[in-house]
Amino acid sequence: MVNLCELTGRINDLATGFRQSAILYAAVEADVFSLFTAGRKTAEEIAKARGWDPRGARIFLDALVAVELLDKHDGAYGNTPVAAACLVPGEAAYQGNIVRHLKAGYMNWFRLEEAVRTGEAVCTENGTNFREDGRSPDDLRNFILGMDDIARMSAVQILDAVDLSKYRHLLDVGGGPGSYSIAFVGRHAAMRATLFDRPEVVDIARAQVSAAGLDGRIAFLRGDFMTDAVGSGYDLVLLSNIIHSYGPENNHRLIQKCFDALEPGGMLILKDFIPDNDRSGPPFSLLFALHMLIHTGEGDTYTFEDVASWTDAAGFAPGRVAAITPQSRLWLAEKPDPGR
Ligand SMILES: C[S@@+](CC[C@H](N)C(=O)[O-])C[C@H]1O[C@@H](n2cnc3c(N)ncnc32)[C@H](O)[C@@H]1O
Repeated sequence: MVNLCELTGRINDLATGFRQSAILYAAVEADVFSLFTAGRKTAEEIAKARGWDPRGARIFLDALVAVELLDKHDGAYGNTPVAAACLVPGEAAYQGNIVRHLKAGYMNWFRLEEAVRTGEAVCTENGTNFREDGRSPDDLRNFILGMDDIARMSAVQILDAVDLSKYRHLLDVGGGPGSYSIAFVGRHAAMRATLFDRPEVVDIARAQVSAAGLDGRIAFLRGDFMTDAVGSGYDLVLLSNIIHSYGPENNHRLIQKCFDALEPGGMLILKDFIPDNDRSGPPFSLLFALHMLIHTGEGDTYTFEDVASWTDAAGFAPGRVAAITPQSRLWLAEKPDPGR
């Protein structure tokens, strides 16, 4: 029998889901979780440390208990394992940059119907938006370092899933913060990398590469990969989380460009939130497509069939799938080597 309480509860969860996001955004902005690294604290102590109203602090900290980012014993709060691992700056799995990036686009989601109706990206009230060419310097930094929050994990997953030991020169197309280039050349001593991105992003990537001690193993090209030359002679090309920002025609052109940049026998690794061919899941891919609808003029998520049609048309040998997480999937395609 249908349980109406369960059904209405599900609707209530959907209707109030935004509260959880807002709680997380406020806590990350206030760097709440660092306050507990030295031990448990009361609401009064936190209120004093942050200059907050005591009632406001108590209600907010209790809400953080409700979303399981804090726990509470004898009136004193402490970080749960997820907060300690992911929300304290400097921790290996820190996710604060990507949280700030998502917060920057949060209000745009409340104009979803407009994006659905027009097919156009929506802008926030103050005229800024998420599109690659429209970010403030702070938003750009949160975006690029947010990519690093995700990529630090994914890069290791790719390296564990695909044997890259024979490759010598990687082209990291739209390499962002350089996380993949850093991880790939870090794992494979004979590999070097060239990272291509927009000039302002390359400045951020260069600092990340220096901090990793890899100056000299990673070179940089600045420009627009749709219109500028990306070089040639590479035996490995990475296209990670790029195609979802562009429409089919541009992706087709870009994949052709990757093919042309590769030596015979070289490989393209295409990573994205690739949905199943019937677009019935995974849920993350379906929701990410909506994120692209709201924030880009032509972006979407693309199925393996879509991606295969572009690599086949470019001249690659038939590709293969590798899933590194349920939502993050790879398409691997090699450029034929007539001499082999
Ligand atoms: C979603 S991020 C992905 C970054 C990185 N590949 C990763 O997976 O973590 C997209 C990157 O592509 C870059 N990008 C997008 N369009 C570009 C273009 N036309 N020319 C150069 N870079 C571009 C952006 O600046 C950004 O760094």
